[in-house]
Amino acid sequence: MADTIRARVVAGLESNPKYIPFSYKYDEVGSRLQKESCRMVQDYYLTASETSILQHQVRDIIPDVPNDLTLVDISSGDCSKTRFVIDELIKTQNTLIFYPLDISGEFLFKAATKLKEEYGDSLTVHPIASDYVEGIEQLRQIKGTKLILWIGTIFNLSYEDQINILRLISTIMTDRCRLAFSADITLSRDAIIMAYNDDAGYKRRMNLYGITRLNREEGSMIDLDKFSYHFDFIHNTNPEFTSYIRAYIEAKEDVQYPIPGLSMELVMKKGEHLYLHEGTGLSCKYTLEQLQTIVQKAGLRLAGTLIDKEKHAVFCQCVTK
Ligand SMILES: C[S@@+](CC[C@H](N)C(=O)[O-])C[C@H]1O[C@@H](n2cnc3c(N)ncnc32)[C@H](O)[C@@H]1O
Repeated sequence: MADTIRARVVAGLESNPKYIPFSYKYDEVGSRLQKESCRMVQDYYLTASETSILQHQVRDIIPDVPNDLTLVDISSGDCSKTRFVIDELIKTQNTLIFYPLDISGEFLFKAATKLKEEYGDSLTVHPIASDYVEGIEQLRQIKGTKLILWIGTIFNLSYEDQINILRLISTIMTDRCRLAFSADITLSRDAIIMAYNDDAGYKRRMNLYGITRLNREEGSMIDLDKFSYHFDFIHNTNPEFTSYIRAYIEAKEDVQYPIPGLSMELVMKKGEHLYLHEGTGLSCKYTLEQLQTIVQKAGLRLAGTLIDKEKHAVFCQCVTK
């Protein structure tokens, strides 16, 4: 897997415009930084809103099917949000088989160990440390009815990949399975700027973590003082697209940095941009119509939506037909 990630970073740094793939931020340190940035930034609304839906409407996320659901969590992180669903399922069916999947292996294994310690025999955990594509392939072997969660993540993929990964997930679903994914429906520019451009710089540190990791693991000495950091929110009501955040660094002068571990150099002209995500942007924001379009394009049907009181987050409940 490490080689696949490296190949993606090389492809990003060689493309025009240059970018660092979003996934590259997620090693153990990056996963911790991400958690910390969500916890410490008071104005970061999404975690609280998603948690509120899970706390108050968890019964509606769990499909009305007989016992023996298997739970899958794609991009599970530390599984803290998943616990609401785990608790509810164990209450109704006594035992639960759970497959958390995440690219951040060490972080995932620690979370899985903690869950096993806490839940004992009532929970069987099968962590899958993998990228979506390989991981979903492994999930294909699971028999029976699955409840699949995909929380706090779809909006960080490119528009095409949001559809591609949803379509891939649909291939492991039968008509009895359910998928619930969360999305951000906030469209207030002020709320978004406050949440993602905090004065203490938590979100900025997280966005720049790909460069920090490159320097540490691949032996480069990219000096962030030679770049300015830029962040903007782009509002877009086109039903076939989304609003999004764009984050990039701009070279203040011509720069050239060898990256020994990748056998390449980062060469940038003064004024050139290096994006901190692939595709147009990250942290997409949606209208319900835009979400409906994405779900349809992936060949799924939007069976319902659950929205928090503040109207920041939505859980989209999807079925195969
Ligand atoms: C914003 S966090 C969300 C974590 C958790 N679901 C939550 O809501 O707290 C995004 C997660 O996606 C994972 N991730 C990023 N790229 C991935 C990929 N290509 N395949 C699988 N997981 C990935 C990261 O490791 C991280 O845990």
